[in-house]
Amino acid sequence: MPPTNPSLVAYYSRSGTTARVGHALALRLGADELAIEDLRGDVSVWRAALDRLLGTLPPVAEPTVALDRYGLVVLGTPVWGGRAASPVRRFLHDHGAALAQVAFFCTMGGSGADSAFADMQQRLGKAPRATCAIDAKALEGDRYLDTLDTFAARLADGAQAPLHTVPNGAVLHP
Ligand SMILES: Cc1cc2nc3c(=O)[nH]c(=O)nc-3n(C[C@H](O)[C@H](O)[C@H](O)COP(=O)(O)O)c2cc1C
Repeated sequence: MPPTNPSLVAYYSRSGTTARVGHALALRLGADELAIEDLRGDVSVWRAALDRLLGTLPPVAEPTVALDRYGLVVLGTPVWGGRAASPVRRFLHDHGAALAQVAFFCTMGGSGADSAFADMQQRLGKAPRATCAIDAKALEGDRYLDTLDTFAARLADGAQAPLHTVPNGAVLHP
């Protein structure tokens, strides 16, 4: 029988990093996975930077799953100029109302997670159950996997814990 309260990990990834993290997280949660697809195709760094500058909301593919089936949707994004990537902003704009509980994760070079999460929360009009930021340092090798284990455990039990920094450069928020 399918789980009664399944989870979904939905992410956009321009160059593969957020997809790698999202896939590892979905495995840990036993969650379904949805790659948010920018219908413009491959997006150059310059196009991404211009999106950020202009606040573009590009067209994204219709989700291939019924979002309102999921008790928890974990949304993943690369940080673009201290904001969520433009396809994620578009996804939230179009589908935010269908999401029950949410949690966020991001990948980034080194800064901007807090403002990106605030951007996502504002677009959704609802607070995430937990957030997880993973920077380039933590992504070297497989050290970010420990952070994902902790994040997944927190999502699984819904526990609230105070903000703490994981020694490998990643930050977990309750
Ligand atoms: C247009 C653009 C803006 C970016 N802005 C930031 C930023 O503000 N802070 C940061 O730490 N990294 C920034 N990055 C780096 C990405 O967030 C980082 O490389 C991310 O892991 C890429 O994920 P992806 O491979 O899933 O696309 C930026 C990258 C691009 C293309």
